[in-house]
Amino acid sequence: MSNDININNESSKTTMIIFGGTGDLTHRKLIPALYQLHINGFLPKDFTTISIGRRDKTTEEYREDLLTSIKRFSSRNFEEESFESFSKMITYFRLNFEDQSDYEDLLSELNSRDTPGVKNSYMFYLAVSPNYFSEIVMNLKASGLRDKDSLWQRLIIEKPFGQNLESATKLNDSISSVFEEKDIYRIDHYVAKEMIQNINMLRFQNAIFGSIWNKDHISNVQITVLEKEGVGTRGGYYDGTGALRDMVQNHLLQLLAITAMEPPVSLDTDDVRNEKVKVFSSLKPFSGDHIEEKLILGQYKGYQNEDKVDKESITETLVATKVFIENDRWEGVPFYLLTGKSLKNKTAQITIEFKQSNRYNYGKESEPNILEIKIQPDEGITLHLNIKEPGVVDKIAMVEMDYCQSCLYLFNSPDSYEKLLLDAINGDSTLFTRWDELQLTWKYVDSILDEVNGKKNSMMKSYEVGSNGPEDLSSFIDSGANHWWYLNREY
Ligand code: BG6
Repeated sequence: MSNDININNESSKTTMIIFGGTGDLTHRKLIPALYQLHINGFLPKDFTTISIGRRDKTTEEYREDLLTSIKRFSSRNFEEESFESFSKMITYFRLNFEDQSDYEDLLSELNSRDTPGVKNSYMFYLAVSPNYFSEIVMNLKASGLRDKDSLWQRLIIEKPFGQNLESATKLNDSISSVFEEKDIYRIDHYVAKEMIQNINMLRFQNAIFGSIWNKDHISNVQITVLEKEGVGTRGGYYDGTGALRDMVQNHLLQLLAITAMEPPVSLDTDDVRNEKVKVFSSLKPFSGDHIEEKLILGQYKGYQNEDKVDKESITETLVATKVFIENDRWEGVPFYLLTGKSLKNKTAQITIEFKQSNRYNYGKESEPNILEIKIQPDEGITLHLNIKEPGVVDKIAMVEMDYCQSCLYLFNSPDSYEKLLLDAINGDSTLFTRWDELQLTWKYVDSILDEVNGKKNSMMKSYEVGSNGPEDLSSFIDSGANHWWYLNREY
């Protein structure tokens, strides 16, 4: 973690080079995020961006495209004048990913921008299909770009990082022959969501939670990341991937680790990552016995007719799974993970269900206390408590203490890409995934995939678009209050 933002280093220039400059991610996320960082004064003094694409385009044409994207996708305020100054920082550069001589041209372009006495820093952002990751990195080396004298050079890499442990290892071997681990920033945008960053604060700066965050007081944890949209235009990628690889291996397991980890010695990058790694190393190995009690796979109706999806596809668009952590804090506490597409609502939350307390008889049992950490669309925290209902007879009632961050007047949460880009510029890799985290999460997901291999067809539950998922989901939770708490919410 870094609290210091070093934005005014007089003698250095920072250049972000985006591979995939004409792609969806750049237009929807990266450029709007850079724009917000620019208008809020967070970008370093001498910051420029070179956006790389394979199409012929002038910088002027490219800037016009960006204007449309920012107006459409920027989460917050837009001002014509600040766009002018912002767009001047961005140039378009045509490059064919396979062509080494194009990289040599890029190197000449960078050399032509050198200023005597001023150090350069370079951030290479790979917003491209993973098929190109290795090739681009190899060409950065072969063309001499990687050896250009620099204050620093960092590689920012999007997911998916491999399809399993084997392919992830191969990819890692290849990129780490060119960049050191400390300079590789692997993105998991969920980790940078505002309320996820809040979990450390909530757990470790509030004495009321510190002592009860364990198996003695918590009956189960539910991590739900649900989406309303189907696969849309990403059928080609998604059909070969599925929800286990697309969401569980990265976002959901990261949320689990942040919820479950021991207090790190400090909030320094490696201390935090080491604690997450300990959680991943303690995951109870997935076994195929009574698999239906531990794993539900679902596919929404009509998925097989989506563009670029196999007509007989058995790719899962929904996963519910039960994970156990074998350590002293969490022994026996189920962590339920649920994620899916084409559901009723887009919502993400972590729900901590505490054990029930029934010391006295009020005619009916008390409800368990629930702590909801709401990630999206609402951001906030809700604590459910048992109280005495006002009146002359002692009756128990459940109330909610609600902190709604996203309801605050003029509140506007930064997009996670703003945080990630700023951290990468400042050299803070705490929110990025270290290689050993990836290895362990792939190992875990591979073990699930191995168990379902050959059984997928019979396991797959079909569910209606716009529903709460397959019916079997309702009986999947077997402890505490016996249901998915997210279902209590209307969005
Ligand atoms: C991506 C997945 O990592 O996360 C997508 O590849 C998914 O399939 C997306 O739709 C969800 O992110 P968010 O931030 O919109 O909830």
